[in-house]
Amino acid sequence: MKVTIVGAGAVGASCAEYIAIKNFASEVVLIDIKEDYAEGKAMDLMQTSSLLGFDTKITGSTNDYSKTANSDIAVITSGVPRKPGMTREELIGINADIVKSVSQSLLEHSPNVTLIVVSNPMDTMTYLVHKTTKLPKNKIIGMGGALDSARFKYRISEALGCPASDVDGMVIGGHSDTGMVPLTRLATRNSVPVSEFLSKERIEQVSEDTKVGGATLTKMLGTSAWYAPGAAVSSLVQAIACDQKKMFPCSALLEGEYGLNDLCIGVPVILGKNGIEKIVEVELDDAEKSKLKDSSEGVSKTNDLLDLKK
Ligand code: LAC
Repeated sequence: MKVTIVGAGAVGASCAEYIAIKNFASEVVLIDIKEDYAEGKAMDLMQTSSLLGFDTKITGSTNDYSKTANSDIAVITSGVPRKPGMTREELIGINADIVKSVSQSLLEHSPNVTLIVVSNPMDTMTYLVHKTTKLPKNKIIGMGGALDSARFKYRISEALGCPASDVDGMVIGGHSDTGMVPLTRLATRNSVPVSEFLSKERIEQVSEDTKVGGATLTKMLGTSAWYAPGAAVSSLVQAIACDQKKMFPCSALLEGEYGLNDLCIGVPVILGKNGIEKIVEVELDDAEKSKLKDSSEGVSKTNDLLDLKK
């Protein structure tokens, strides 16, 4: 199992670290445009292998995609992260060209690769990869919902005063401050609906804190977060690499599911060796349907900013 991660910045390196610690991949290749940067991160990570007990071989390369040849999975984190006060959508101009050229370089060396898109605005970047690579739709996955759901579970656990491992919950919709749809009605603590423990107002607060989860951290850190994004990506990579058939909300190309068409947006999917093996259509109530519809309109508006003829 060979995994390439493009972008050896904080998210890419955290992702490599978590993949290595989980010890399921034989090889991880880190790629970056900055001279010696990916090589340095790879060497630093490899020097933890005897301490942490993993056998995954991590190598780095300055933009030499021949080193990525025959990757099974590739993660695209490249591009510019947001700064405090910026929305993810504001990054489209810079990141679209980068994501397009990176995905083409990856495909030249790994025509059968499964791509996981992390760069923002993520749903639109995932859509761009669909439009420009012509890979089958099951092989292009946008990472957002897995991260947003982890943040949702954290916020619920904080409100309940319990470990997040007691909590289950999911965020669908666009990976944006206004587009996320935390499914509070379906969130549970050990199968008991969280509404049994928390007031309506507290649940609403949890939902709002979840939606601005990335923005809150960007303000605190001065740049986009990396631990939870890296861990979320590593979980998706593991689900595909180990054919786990696990369900995560991911940005997937919709063709009628949830009444939506011709866009990528976060919905529950089953991940296995074939990438997105199934899109799961959960029965939503009217309020959730309307929030997802509004979210899809936001994503489509950002998609309209892409110049797909270039
Ligand atoms: C975040 C970035 C990865 O939400 O979009 O932290």
